[in-house]
Amino acid sequence: MDPLSPLRARTITLVGLMGVGKTSVGKRLAVALDLPFRDADNEVETAAGRSIPDIFADLGEAAFREGERRVIARLLDEPPHVLATGGGAFMNAETRALIKSKSVSIWLRADVEVLARRVARKDNRPLLTGKDPVSVLRDLAEARYPIYAEADILVDSGDAPHHVTLDNVIKALAAYLEAPLP
Ligand code: S3P
Repeated sequence: MDPLSPLRARTITLVGLMGVGKTSVGKRLAVALDLPFRDADNEVETAAGRSIPDIFADLGEAAFREGERRVIARLLDEPPHVLATGGGAFMNAETRALIKSKSVSIWLRADVEVLARRVARKDNRPLLTGKDPVSVLRDLAEARYPIYAEADILVDSGDAPHHVTLDNVIKALAAYLEAPLP
């Protein structure tokens, strides 16, 4: 039997705060498991025909959240793939219930200081614009960690490079699914 097949049977959804590497690790995981990769933020941008900062600026956060909910519901009906979600997606009760029923969910976690350093590289996150990233991320961590904890699997990435986190994700996934390591 293909040793990867138990790991490829269901969609794998990555949740966690901004900057933790959901997209970077997700892309690598998709390659490693030979699964398609979907990025919910990108799909929302495509559906709206504009960037996330523009969606927030032109339509408001509520419209973004509604688009995010619809897009993720659609993606979860697709065949198995690796799905990177935006940091707020799992906070929506309906989205969370769908992620839990239709996929294996992985919470990627890292210290807020590490996240703040990583998000400083890009200027595409409206929740951080003009604010101190450490204090925003700290508040988000406080509000969201109890909810992220509902994910099936927790992987602490620390400050490790993405390929190390990828190995840890695959190990955790194999352990969770009681599958042999590929
Ligand atoms: C958000 C995270 C972002 C994006 C939007 C809102 C959040 O995605 O969806 O800016 O609420 O945490 P990333 O987690 O991919 O940065």
